Amino acid sequence: MYSAWAFKHKPKTLKEVVGNREAIQKLVDWVKSWDREIPKKRAAFLYGPPGIGKTVTVEALANDLKMELVEKNASDYRTEEAINRFAGLASQYGSLFGAKRIILLDELDGLTGTADKGGVKAITDIVKIAQCPIVLIANNAYDLRFLNLRNYCLLIEFKKPAASEVLNRLKIICLREGIQAEENALKFIANRSEGDVRSAINDLQALAQGKRKLTYEDVSWLGYRDRQEAIFTVLRMIIYGKTCEGAKRAVDMADVDIDMLFEWIYENVPAHLTDPHDLANALDALSLADVYRGRIRSTQAWSLVRYVIDFMTAGVAMARVNTKTSGWTPFRFPERIQMLSRSKAERAMQLEIGQKIKRRCHISANRASKEILPYLRIIFKNNVEMAAGLAKWLDLSPEMVDYLAESEEKAGAIKALLG
Ligand SMILES: Nc1ncnc2c1ncn2[C@@H]1O[C@H](COP(=O)(O)OP(=O)(O)OP(=O)(O)O)[C@@H](O)[C@H]1O
Ligand SMILES: [Mg+2]
Repeated sequence: MYSAWAFKHKPKTLKEVVGNREAIQKLVDWVKSWDREIPKKRAAFLYGPPGIGKTVTVEALANDLKMELVEKNASDYRTEEAINRFAGLASQYGSLFGAKRIILLDELDGLTGTADKGGVKAITDIVKIAQCPIVLIANNAYDLRFLNLRNYCLLIEFKKPAASEVLNRLKIICLREGIQAEENALKFIANRSEGDVRSAINDLQALAQGKRKLTYEDVSWLGYRDRQEAIFTVLRMIIYGKTCEGAKRAVDMADVDIDMLFEWIYENVPAHLTDPHDLANALDALSLADVYRGRIRSTQAWSLVRYVIDFMTAGVAMARVNTKTSGWTPFRFPERIQMLSRSKAERAMQLEIGQKIKRRCHISANRASKEILPYLRIIFKNNVEMAAGLAKWLDLSPEMVDYLAESEEKAGAIKALLG
């Protein structure tokens, strides 16, 4: 059955919780102090960013100390009836079955607005006189709403665990799931999560579930995915922008440079502006932007960059007049950049083949690798005899044949013909 690993591998004991050792110790000491006397602060207020183990710490602690945990989402305590029940629970340390009780009010941030001011006040009143430990949790304890409540609480800050600590947790989960993972694959996931253990575990599950092995290659594209999503938002703001201002503002959000953004817009405008007049106008705007880009490149007159931006954003946004938004069209990665971003080794290989073509065809190696090589690829994939003939004529090395044929099988057949 499918289950979320973050849930399946929830720590059962405090030993399993990574990070925040000091904070956890402070909480444990405070809970234990109840056995001696009621402490001055009758509630502990845990706060910190999401997914770092606040809730799970309280659950594991109750488990370790064999306490009865009464766990509630704070927003459940809005009705008077619920508050009375809470007050009743909080009035006794020992539960019916002898275990000591601890009450957890989770997600205090869920209480919003003035309507819930009453809720926070009711909770505060109960905390003041509680006879058993109450733990409160919120992302931000310094919200104004908690100003008074805070006076009655032991504040305990939870911080993001270090990447190395997240890594340890991921390793244990891999072990339990029977996955052999490369160290830097897990490191990559851990670093990317920025201390959010839950999201790291979710990523791990998405990438590794059903696998025996997890390699760095399996995970490294993740980093790219984020950037891609961000750029899609930017493109949407530009191509579907309703105002010049909005479209221009998109540039500030893009984490790519102007030239790269230009490529993205240029690649995607044709698929999104289906009305020919709109498309013509958008391409006109892009061509004007490109004229300024050229001017900047040749004269370094960077002050012209504002015209590039205006034309490629506002110009494109205003071009959309007749195009109807019909259905969903995906954004595509710019073809030209994809070509450039192929590995260096690949480009070197292409250029070497270009050199061979140059000798025979008397054109530059660069041009040969751009204009002739794609056709060679098609021939090498589809016609073994012709490929062998060409390989001989161009004097291609076995590695070049491998590269052009793409599959080992085809390459083998071609090389067999070459003898
Ligand atoms: N420090 C940690 N050690 C081990 N596992 C953790 C840790 N933090 C989070 N997890 C994993 O992530 C899941 C979610 O953690 P938890 O619910 O404690 O986060 P939280 O800090 O309460 O987040 P939120 O603020 O969103 O409620 C847990 O079930 C557990 O699997
Ligand atoms: Mg929580």
